[in-house]
Amino acid sequence: MFRVCGIIAITSSSRREDLGHLFVEALKRLEYRGYDSVGIAIVDQNNLYIAKNTGTVESVAKSEGFTFFSGCSGIGHTRWATHGAPTKNNSHPHTDCSKKIAVVHNGIIENYSELKSLLLSRGHLFISDTDTEVVPHLIEEFKSTGLDAYSAFKKAISMLRGTFAIVAIDVSEERKLLFARKVSPLIIGVGRGLALVSSDIVSVLPFTDRVIVLNDDEVGYAEPDRVFIETIEGFPVDISKRVVKIDYHIENFDKGPYEHYMIKEIYEQPYFLTQTLSGLISSRDEVEKSVKLLEVADTIYLIGAGSSYHASLLGALYFRYLGFRAQAIISSEAIPYLRSVKSGDVIVAVSQSGETIDTLLAMRESMRRGVRVVAIVNNPLSTIARESDAYIYMRSGPEICVAATKTFTSQVLVLLYLGLMLMKDHQHTETVLRTLRKLPEITTSIIKSAEDTARKLAKKLSSEHSVYYLGRVFGYPISAEAALKIKEVAYIHAEAYPAGESKHGPIALVTHRFPVIFTIIGELDELIEGNIEEMKARDAYVVTYAPRDKTTSVIEKNSDLVVSLPQASLETSLVTYVIPHQLLAYYTAVERGYNPDRPRNLAKTVTVF
Ligand code: AGP
Repeated sequence: MFRVCGIIAITSSSRREDLGHLFVEALKRLEYRGYDSVGIAIVDQNNLYIAKNTGTVESVAKSEGFTFFSGCSGIGHTRWATHGAPTKNNSHPHTDCSKKIAVVHNGIIENYSELKSLLLSRGHLFISDTDTEVVPHLIEEFKSTGLDAYSAFKKAISMLRGTFAIVAIDVSEERKLLFARKVSPLIIGVGRGLALVSSDIVSVLPFTDRVIVLNDDEVGYAEPDRVFIETIEGFPVDISKRVVKIDYHIENFDKGPYEHYMIKEIYEQPYFLTQTLSGLISSRDEVEKSVKLLEVADTIYLIGAGSSYHASLLGALYFRYLGFRAQAIISSEAIPYLRSVKSGDVIVAVSQSGETIDTLLAMRESMRRGVRVVAIVNNPLSTIARESDAYIYMRSGPEICVAATKTFTSQVLVLLYLGLMLMKDHQHTETVLRTLRKLPEITTSIIKSAEDTARKLAKKLSSEHSVYYLGRVFGYPISAEAALKIKEVAYIHAEAYPAGESKHGPIALVTHRFPVIFTIIGELDELIEGNIEEMKARDAYVVTYAPRDKTTSVIEKNSDLVVSLPQASLETSLVTYVIPHQLLAYYTAVERGYNPDRPRNLAKTVTVF
């Protein structure tokens, strides 16, 4: 079972009339992590108030009156339930029998059923069927032995097995936020007379730009002007060395003129690709540290999940195109692979969130085997960034939509740049960099030229049940990313195949007007013309995305629709040719009446299995 949730906790030295408003603001910034149910627990003048229900932040905040709450501290949670319908009782926060202790949690407590049986035998009453609810009752149980809130909290945490980011409050120590971390991310925002604990930096940035990132097996508490951290074994942590000033400015979280984050983030690509490229050029140390590790590698293994895997596929192809030994592996498949990885190899961990558990565990296993790791992340404070030997920060700005768009193109750009740096052929590198500096214009023109076609084609695709995306060599990973996009936001089954593979079975599915979408990138090989003819001969509905200079008469004749792409260098097309497919997926989702920002069954960051 995997579940991803958003946690926010706030404690203030003064009683805040607007505490409820602060929670609504912070929870809205976490909603992309989970949006089935929402809740807060507020401590005010020695009373604990719980308000929670199923629904979005906006709807629950309204129905439960979040903004009417005042107080000095509280905890909040957005839940995304994977098993069983979300219910009010299962939403967080959860409390103990006395309703004096409240807890929020992200992760999975593997031994919760035995703990629950023990607590039931001690007379504790449970309301939900969640794993989380054992935590407040454990704290209550240990407090009944005379322990103070924090000592009881620590003892409760020591009983848990599994993964967790947990925050608890206890009316008896109303300004103390008790926290613990094991695998699931948790950070502390350090303000003036205000402290916050959260799953993600984005929710604390309106209040402070100074954060502490918790490590695994650390516990502690935050008060308005004091943070205490120790290891689970009881060794105090010197936090003076742990406070980091965040340099990335949070773009405004409003969607502005856009209906959804997805289309906003597609349109942001010209700007953020520029940010990524200028960041690569200006952060010489960051890049050189990574290049130094890569240039001595026997083989470069790129690992990633989902879109990050597709970026890894493109990166590995490009490294091989440049003459290096490179291979892409799906993160969740990587650990068995690692038996053949030697200490002279290098792993590139590609993860925009820097928290994907499959990628993190593969990276840890690699490092345990003495393999060096370079990470490519969009959050420099993420676990993967902090644990890697070197990391590149993508500078794509926060991506709220669950579907990756701008972070995918940024990842590809970073990988191409690393390949160029490895080449040591400065003349070639300068030539390619000149083309990459045109990314903003090319990206803008692709968006403008592909927009209308995407809207029209979406109307046709919206009634389809299955689509093939075909490409050769570099066109295949682009096709794989295109197929993932339309699956995850428009819920249409789509498969990507190397175009030459289609006649080895897949073509059997092609019947009258079956949609087949080709992407031509790089050196057009005549063979793809043959694949297009084969599909047309079976009466498929053929759409071909191709640069003008590679659109031959055979392609024109055998395609129902040719979408012209601007002529571009190989590297520029590798970064940008996915964008028309992003637009197509977006408009198809909208045409089918879905909200592309909150696709069913998905979470933005999969931090638990
Ligand atoms: C892609 O649209 C999805 N959001 C998903 O496949 C994502 O790429 C994957 O979960 C990896 O996330 P990461 O880059 O944060 O590791």
